[in-house]
Amino acid sequence: MTVASILRLAAAVTFTLGSVASAEDEGGSLIAKGQSLAEANCAICHAINATGTSPLVIAPAFRDIAVSYELADLEDAFNEGVATEHPAMPDWQMTPEQAEALASYIMSLAPAGKQKTDLEVPSQPVAAMP
Ligand code: HEC
Repeated sequence: MTVASILRLAAAVTFTLGSVASAEDEGGSLIAKGQSLAEANCAICHAINATGTSPLVIAPAFRDIAVSYELADLEDAFNEGVATEHPAMPDWQMTPEQAEALASYIMSLAPAGKQKTDLEVPSQPVAAMP
């Protein structure tokens, strides 16, 4: 699959995040739930683990996103829809719980000591297009 065809696919679909198994909704940790969501919905483009490169080269690895953002920024961005800032990203709908789980999972990938903890919240949570 070419990058162009992946992007066309993404642009054609406004997708609702695939839900995770209900057992996980009840018992699984937030991070585990976020990982399942990422595997199901994000891994086609992003590197979602501690190692590896993104299948879609222009999609930043989640562990790199983890060091550039704070948890609350990511959660806000997901609730508002990252797609409004990034045309290359699929537009998706997610529940606040899914946004929290995904943001928690992504932050868990930051190497120890690399998490942003300062309180400077950028006015635009997602970086501008170059
Ligand atoms: C169809 C491919 C594709 C899928 C699927 C996808 N992304 Fe992305 N994502 C991208 C691309 C491409 C960018 C970079 C866009 C840009 O910089 O303009 C991006 C950027 C991002 C950013 C912003 C990074 C930054 O620094 O601005 C976040 C956060 C993000 N994606 C999270 C996710 C999450 C969470 C999912 C799964 C729910 C997901 N993406 C699914 C392609 C995708």
